[in-house]
Amino acid sequence: MLDLACGSGRHSRLLAAGGWPVLAVDRDATALAGLQGVAAISTACLDLEGDDWPLAGRQFAGIVVTNYLWRPRLADLLALLAPGGVLIYETFMDGNAAYGKPSNPEFLLRPGELRAVAAAAGLREIAFVEGYVERPKSAMRQAICAARE
Ligand SMILES: C[S@@+](CC[C@H](N)C(=O)[O-])C[C@H]1O[C@@H](n2cnc3c(N)ncnc32)[C@H](O)[C@@H]1O
Repeated sequence: MLDLACGSGRHSRLLAAGGWPVLAVDRDATALAGLQGVAAISTACLDLEGDDWPLAGRQFAGIVVTNYLWRPRLADLLALLAPGGVLIYETFMDGNAAYGKPSNPEFLLRPGELRAVAAAAGLREIAFVEGYVERPKSAMRQAICAARE
C-alpha cells in the first residue's frame, strides 16, 4: 500500500494494522521519524512536486491520499495502481475558502475532478462523494474510491 503525503502516518498505521505492508511517503522527515520501527511500514522522504517523479515504475495494491493535492502528478499517481488495486483519495475542493484553508485553487479539487481523473486512468468508480461536510470541521470535500480491474 502507498500512503502518499502521509504526514504522521495515521493511515499507514491503520493499513499496517490490517496486515498490509505500507510505503509511507512524505517530504517531512520529522513526521516520518515517528513511523520508524513500526512493523510493516517503510518510509521514504521524497519531494512529490519536483521535476522528477520519484515513484516512477512502482506498483501498489492500494493507494491512500488524504488532505493533499498536487494536480500535475495526479495521472502519474494513478498509474502506480496495480491491476486489482484500489484507490482511496479524499481532500478539499472548490468552495473551501469560505470555511478556511486550503483556499488556494491550486490545492482544491474542481467539481467532479477525482471522478474524471479516475475515469481517464481507466479505473472503475466504486464510490464518489463531494460537497459540504460538517465534520471534523465545516469544509468542502471530495472523495473517491476506485479500482483498477
Ligand atoms: C495536511 S497534511 C496530510 C497528512 C495526512 N495525509 C493526513 O491526512 O493526516 C499534508 C502533507 O503533505 C506533505 N507534503 C506537502 N508537500 C509535499 C511534497 N512536495 N512532497 C511530499 N510531501 C508533501 C506535508 O509534509 C504534509 O505531511
